[in-house]
Amino acid sequence: MNLFNVYPLFNINPVKAQGSFLWDDKGKKYLDFYGGHAVISIGHNHPHYQTQLKNQLDKISFYSNSVQNELQKELAEKLGKLSGLEDYNLFLCNSGAEANENALKLASFHNGKSKVLYFSGSFHGRTSAAVSVTDNLKIAAPVNYDKRFIKSEWNNIEQLEAIFENQGSEISSVIIEGIQGVGGIMIPTVEFLTKIKELCEKYDAVLILDEVQSGYGRSGYFFAHQEFRIEADIITTAKGMGNGFPIGGVLIHPKFQASNGLLGTTFGGNHLACVAAISVLDVMKDENLIENAQKMGEYIESEIKNFPHIKIIRRKGLMIGIELDRDCSEVRNSLLYSHYIFTGNSNDKAVLRILPALNIKKEETDLFISALKSVLENL
Ligand SMILES: Cc1ncc(COP(=O)(O)O)c(C=O)c1O
Repeated sequence: MNLFNVYPLFNINPVKAQGSFLWDDKGKKYLDFYGGHAVISIGHNHPHYQTQLKNQLDKISFYSNSVQNELQKELAEKLGKLSGLEDYNLFLCNSGAEANENALKLASFHNGKSKVLYFSGSFHGRTSAAVSVTDNLKIAAPVNYDKRFIKSEWNNIEQLEAIFENQGSEISSVIIEGIQGVGGIMIPTVEFLTKIKELCEKYDAVLILDEVQSGYGRSGYFFAHQEFRIEADIITTAKGMGNGFPIGGVLIHPKFQASNGLLGTTFGGNHLACVAAISVLDVMKDENLIENAQKMGEYIESEIKNFPHIKIIRRKGLMIGIELDRDCSEVRNSLLYSHYIFTGNSNDKAVLRILPALNIKKEETDLFISALKSVLENL
């Protein structure tokens, strides 16, 4: 059998990883400034993470959500404490897309409405309300029957108000990323987020903050929207949550009522996934990684801001978008093939996306800074 060929691949085969470095099958060492699409939060193979997962493998790896699982409770408690959202409830799943599917469905269950407002440049995952094609009306909410999704322009308050004025009574939820990642590190203005919150309250719509990429300390706050002191109704998370172990979460405001069978998953919240996620939170707390993300992010920006060919830098913590005066692919390839550094791109071809591990060290950032300088100066 061959693999279904959907990914354009670099001809690099990593076989080992530690901290912010990867090694390929020929022994070549790479610096990781992208974390495999924003996933690596506490560094590759952190010793605490490794030990905890290995120990758990000796005990139990999986049983379904039909039995008690103390690890899920420990995870919820620690996540509540570190994020400051102790009164929210947690539903565990396996990916960012699944977290968003559940958030949209939960919103629709909650208010019985079916329209969803989203924004230009957004990315929320690749599943498409899979329950629409599931032959069981009991687990499908109104939002699944029709695709009534309304696009509004990013950071455009006027358009947002006009849409709510016309269709507010039908809007079930508004879904917005804490910071748009795939869209090119686009930061919402505080006025924009505040207006969304106000309109959601006025029209009884649910505010869903997709923190799949911008959450888990990435922005220098536990969740990016917390900088603006906005209270979300539902927050979705994945990526950095498991540091590579697949896990997603939906953080749900206490006003939402749970009932048996409302949401569900086979693998979500399994023992290994919980241990991975607990280890991430332990390391984030013990090593002050949110603070480190703020500090290292500031340092990188201050060092690179005057480099040639950079038009603008958009950044919060270690979520960094470097907009060049041209397509960034040549720069990205030079960083990878001449300096052995992984970086990312975005839907905006000019934007280089930088997402190092939250425990990146200053000397590692210096490797990136001098490589970027050399690449940009030689363009
Ligand atoms: C903001 C955001 N939401 C959702 C997703 C989808 O997550 P997953 O690929 O785990 O389904 C992504 C993935 O890039 C993302 O960046």
